[in-house]
Amino acid sequence: MCGIIGYIGSRQATPLLIGGLRKLEYRGYDSAGVSVLDPAAGGPSRVVRCRGKLGNLEEKLKAEPAAGTVGIGHTRWATHGRPSDENSHPHKVGPISVIHNGIIENHLQLRAELVAGGSHFSSETDTEIFAHLVERQLVEGAESLTIAVRKALQKVRGSYAFVVMSDKEPGTLVAAKNSSPLVIGLGEGENFIASDVTAILAETRKVIFIDEGEIVTVTRDKVEITDLEGKPKKREPKIITWSAVQAEKGGFKHYMLKEIHEQPRAVADTLVGRIDLENDDVNLDGVNLDVKNIKRIVFIACGTSYHASMVGEFLVEALARIPVEVDLASEFRYRDPIIGPGDLVVAVSQSGETLDTMEAIREAKKKGATVLAISNVIESSIPRLADHAFYTHAGPEIGVASTKAFTTQLVAIALLAIHLGRRTNALSRERARELLAELVQLPHKMKEVTDQGAHLQVLARRYGHAHGFLFLGRGSQYPIALEGALKLKEISYIHAEGYAAGEMKHGPIALIDDKLPVVVLVPRGPSYEKTVSNLAEVRARQGKVLAIATRGDQDIGGHSDDVVLVADTALELQPNLTVLPLQMLSYYVADQRGTDVDQPRNLAKSVTVE
Ligand code: F6R
Repeated sequence: MCGIIGYIGSRQATPLLIGGLRKLEYRGYDSAGVSVLDPAAGGPSRVVRCRGKLGNLEEKLKAEPAAGTVGIGHTRWATHGRPSDENSHPHKVGPISVIHNGIIENHLQLRAELVAGGSHFSSETDTEIFAHLVERQLVEGAESLTIAVRKALQKVRGSYAFVVMSDKEPGTLVAAKNSSPLVIGLGEGENFIASDVTAILAETRKVIFIDEGEIVTVTRDKVEITDLEGKPKKREPKIITWSAVQAEKGGFKHYMLKEIHEQPRAVADTLVGRIDLENDDVNLDGVNLDVKNIKRIVFIACGTSYHASMVGEFLVEALARIPVEVDLASEFRYRDPIIGPGDLVVAVSQSGETLDTMEAIREAKKKGATVLAISNVIESSIPRLADHAFYTHAGPEIGVASTKAFTTQLVAIALLAIHLGRRTNALSRERARELLAELVQLPHKMKEVTDQGAHLQVLARRYGHAHGFLFLGRGSQYPIALEGALKLKEISYIHAEGYAAGEMKHGPIALIDDKLPVVVLVPRGPSYEKTVSNLAEVRARQGKVLAIATRGDQDIGGHSDDVVLVADTALELQPNLTVLPLQMLSYYVADQRGTDVDQPRNLAKSVTVE
């Protein structure tokens, strides 16, 4: 998502900061900035920041040079507040400059308190709140920048990596971490701070990884780590031996594999600030839907986002009892759709730039429907075109085959369904509470699946030579079957079909022989027995069955050749777990075949043609 870099030493900071930020560009960003100070001149720091790419920042720096040997730099991928010059980091309040990755969960409450106390804000970001909090601590007498940061952190809830610089203490940078990565690079008479080791590998390979709940005070010659209470922590430096390219991928062979493993974190980020446990409700970030007057919901999307929308049909109909239709955006406007006031169109798009989806939105708006966009990219074209936007916060997805964008879309749609269900009264408070509790557990349960890489690798070796695959599922597992087939096709170039399990006997059963692997999604639930019958039909014809089932299922092994188990969860959330082995199977099959996993032939990440 966003990128962080900090430098303190004797060299000019600005070129080092820009060099570090360049290494983080692959993560995606929409604005960039630096705050640099010259301790010899006694500050104050100069903040230069702007919307757009690093080139824009470099141009701006030519006009407003920022000289000095201490500095912090940031690339922002907008979460709170649109991409703009004012919302770019660093944020400066009094002597304090702050950069931040992550989300401050209680930002609304903190902002209200600060405004009531007389603070003036110059951006829409949650980050600026932290600059105010630190500045207040200094005004109220905190003895050092480190103490001020520690006290300010006590007020903050959420995920963060902060780096703070003060004009009043120019020989120190203070950083803190909770759930967002942070690493210190050690040099001779100089030190670095970064969100990703890639940013500093050109300068040093000697690093200290900061742990959760730690604060680190960095000077030219010293690095001191404490916990949030100020208790010192000892940490030995590590020497990084990865290449720069490996480092960009966090040590993973491909972005897709990295993104598969990022999913538990990404889903946790989708949930941040949205679950209201006090009222057993979901807050949609201020999206104010006139729920009582929604007669019908129409999802429109393409590809993987279309599959997420198909799951959405199950969720919204089950939890909110509002009728739902799902349309391929590329088909929508060519059949003169019957749509108008009373219809809520939910346009689902990772990139927010898919032209088919944009044209479908235009058609729906022309006919009077209200449009809610679910997207991963703040201020991209689709959310801008829609009446309302709800973001997935998955972080940039670089692998062309969508993984974390999909599972975060499923979670965003589940949040929407619960929000609607509470307002139509179709969803009881008790059931909402159970679902919300399950959502909170989801990242952990997802990690249990992504930890099964070795098993999936073995299965990929066993089945990866096949010329075709069939994926079967019922109910909300049917779109997951479609998604599994799409993933495999996209990156391994093996033909695969997804089918509703009950449809198999109406045609595709003719394909089955001992050479056709059939992946059957058979988690515990109302369709379990019926799906097991379909699975038996496959085996009776010598088909090879790989079952994706629920942990604790004692019987499934007897009905299949291989099994991957996922944790039990609410029926509505099962797709979030069952899709993971399919992504991993596709990945390992493709990797064994040596295809270009991250950029498969003929595919583009954003499809901006009709
Ligand atoms: C498949 C994939 C595509 C996209 C589709 C829509 O892995 O990524 O099928 O889902 O092109 O893209 P967005 O979601 O950006 O509108």
